[in-house]
Amino acid sequence: MRPAVVAANWKMYKTGAQASAFFDTLLAAGPWTGPTRLVVCPPFTAIETCVAKAKGSPVGIGGQDCYWEPEGAFTGQVAAGMLKAAGCGYVIIGHSERRRLFQESDETVNKKLNAAVKEGLTPILCVGETLSDRDAGRTEQVVWSQLTYGLDKIPADVLKGFIVAYEPVWAIGTGRTATPEQAQEVHGFIRAFLAKQGAGVDAVVPVLYGGSVKPENIEALMKGPDVDGALIGGAALDPAGFAAIARGAARARPA
Ligand code: PGA
Repeated sequence: MRPAVVAANWKMYKTGAQASAFFDTLLAAGPWTGPTRLVVCPPFTAIETCVAKAKGSPVGIGGQDCYWEPEGAFTGQVAAGMLKAAGCGYVIIGHSERRRLFQESDETVNKKLNAAVKEGLTPILCVGETLSDRDAGRTEQVVWSQLTYGLDKIPADVLKGFIVAYEPVWAIGTGRTATPEQAQEVHGFIRAFLAKQGAGVDAVVPVLYGGSVKPENIEALMKGPDVDGALIGGAALDPAGFAAIARGAARARPA
């Protein structure tokens, strides 16, 4: 019922030329058929190159962030509608690096989610606890709060078009992946939260795991019934790595 999704978050890596070379290698490694949805989220400056390269392939392109106003005097910001016009189908919102380094709050996350929805983009909402939250036994409380305030007043039928990514902050870029059991535990909690938002929401919203995902651990992580794929940083900069993770996800969730 839910598609498996394998999404690359390139963060602040790759020029247009490097993005172009990535797609040449990735698409040569195809054919990419089957139910797994592939998404690449490049920096803004490489989006148009990626859209052109991915044309006719099953790879969707996404932004890594967007602003909530449609246009205006907001130096440095990029509107959701601009991403859409550039050919994006997705946008990551509320990544922990945005929350931690750029002071994003659940309130701004909520505004950005609404802007993305208005422009017809599929939001990939990121949530996750820090190591001190986890050590203090506050994981569920933190994730609950990010979901509750981030998704404030978003109706169930709109929520059905979302993707959620659980990314424990302590696992991002650290090489320290959550165990499949730790991931499934929080994914099950997120699934239960989604179920409470309206009939059928939990059945259709993919919940991705993110944090040091590699070709070697994707299949074990996706053994958890509520782990529907991954949001990948470092390992998705290499087209062979991204392809191997996509293949692992397809094996874990063949239909
Ligand atoms: P990582 O990053 O795969 O490099 O840990 C994941 C993310 O931040 O989305």
